[in-house]
This record gives sequence, structure tokens and C-alpha cells, in this order.
Amino acid sequence: MTAATADRHLLYQSAVQDVEAEIDFIEQTWSELRQRPAVLLREDFCGTANTACEWVRRHPDCQAIGIDSDAGVLEWGRQYNLAELDESQAKRIELLLADVLHASTDLADIILAMNFSYYLFLERDDLRRYFECARDGLVDDGILFLDAYGGYEAPMVLTEPRECEDEDGNEFTYIWEQASFNPIDSCMDCHIHFEFPDKSRMDKAFSYNWRLWTLPEIQEILFEAGFSQVDVYWEGTDEKNNEGNGIYTPSTVGDADPGWVCYVVAQV
Ligand SMILES: C[S@@+](CC[C@H](N)C(=O)[O-])C[C@H]1O[C@@H](n2cnc3c(N)ncnc32)[C@H](O)[C@@H]1O
Repeated sequence: MTAATADRHLLYQSAVQDVEAEIDFIEQTWSELRQRPAVLLREDFCGTANTACEWVRRHPDCQAIGIDSDAGVLEWGRQYNLAELDESQAKRIELLLADVLHASTDLADIILAMNFSYYLFLERDDLRRYFECARDGLVDDGILFLDAYGGYEAPMVLTEPRECEDEDGNEFTYIWEQASFNPIDSCMDCHIHFEFPDKSRMDKAFSYNWRLWTLPEIQEILFEAGFSQVDVYWEGTDEKNNEGNGIYTPSTVGDADPGWVCYVVAQV
């Protein structure tokens, strides 16, 4: 695989997403908080709708709506991810080309906004407006699931390579670049680049201008938007290697790690 032959969405899905683990967390947390099964999941900022596809694969009753404002990425999702579903699964998923601030859908049991997509809102009022829209899009006992990242390396200008493999075992390097950070407004420019064994590169395959929101801000704004309970699910530590163990539990104290990712669970 070289930069000329690779597909940036396939690389992104292999390097960035773990939709099985994400839906495992959502199913487990939902079952701990609610006494009934969740049926309709809405994936906001869905991109290729990879996570929504995983949801409809889980159970014959599961339905999903994916929302994204980019027609190109939705079309890619249709051609590659939805096309892999069987007929009954494909019938239970709908992709909507819309801005999440103006989308009108059936009320969902669960709304997801993953991979920090809501960091794209740079102003507090806009983020609150998005959280209000999500709350309005949920049933009375619905739950919004977000992820968040931070740590003392998060506002640093840095480049971080990581070795990856695609589904067919082809190797490539995923490179996360934090290109700029402005401490005055907490906004930053980030890029994803890919490099291949022949040294060819796909530079700026994805770029984001976003605000590095802090967990206190996110929790406060969720409450301001009308959610009744907001919990941070922090990752536990594997005693053997001192690394994250992939188990996230509601927590009020976290570790001052250089880089962390956690979930935020907001109940209507
Ligand atoms: C960081 S990607 C996230 C993709 C995927 N959700 C994931 O977990 O990896 C952000 C996506 O949000 C979409 N997007 C940005 N602003 C949006 C908006 N206001 N409404 C809907 N989609 C938006 C972009 O087109 C892009 O596909």
C-alpha cells in the first residue's frame, strides 16, 4: 500500500476507530442505567457511519440514524460500510445529510458524538446549543454519550506517530499532529497524516480546528443544556503494566496523565 493507492477513510477507520469497544461500552453502560433495551441510536457527526453500522449488527431490533454535514463522507459510508450489512441490517439504518444543530429525527434512546467531534464548536453558546439539540433529540430516559480527551500533553505542539495495520494486514504509520495551540482561546489546529512503507505520505488527510474543552466546562454546559445527570467514566489502570485497562467507570477523581481519553455520559 502506498499514498497513491490508499483510501483515507479506510486508514482512518483502522487507525482511529474501535467501534466494537465503543458499542460494548455503550451497551454495558445503558444496561447498568436502564431496565429496558435501547433500540434507536443516533450517531451525530457520523462520518462513514462505522459505529451506527456496528449498532445495527448487534441485534435485530437495533435501529440507527447517522448524521453528517458532508455528503462525500456519507456517500463513502454508503458504498463501503452500509454495503457490507445484510439486507435486514441495512433496512434499519438511515443516513441524514444535515447540520447536527438543525437535524430533525425521531427521538433516539441514545445519541453518540464520538472522536471529540463536538470540539468543533468553538464558542460556549454554540456548544450549549448543540447539547440542547441532542437533549431535544432524546426520549425521556435517553442518554447522550460523548468522549473527551486531555492531559498535560493535549495543549502541546507535537507530532505523534503510531504503527498500524489495515484490515488486510497492510502496514502504515498514523501520525497525529497538534500543529498549533492558542492558550488565550484554547483553540488548536490538528492534522492526521499517513505514511507508508515506501516512505510515500498522505499529508493532512484530515484536519481539525477545534477547541480543547475541559471536563469541568463540558459537564457544566451539559447541565446548562438541561441534562439531569452527567458522569465522567474514567479508565482504570492495569496493575501489571500501569497502562489503561479499557474499563471505564463513573469517577470523580482522575489521574494527571500526559494524555487521557474518557467518556462523558449525560442523562436526560
Ligand atoms: C472527527 S470526524 C468524526 C467521525 C466519526 N464520528 C468518528 O467517531 O470517528 C467529524 C465529522 O463531523 C462532521 N461534521 C462537522 N461539523 C458538523 C455539523 N455541524 N453537523 C454534522 N456533521 C458535522 C464532519 O463532516 C466529519 O465527518
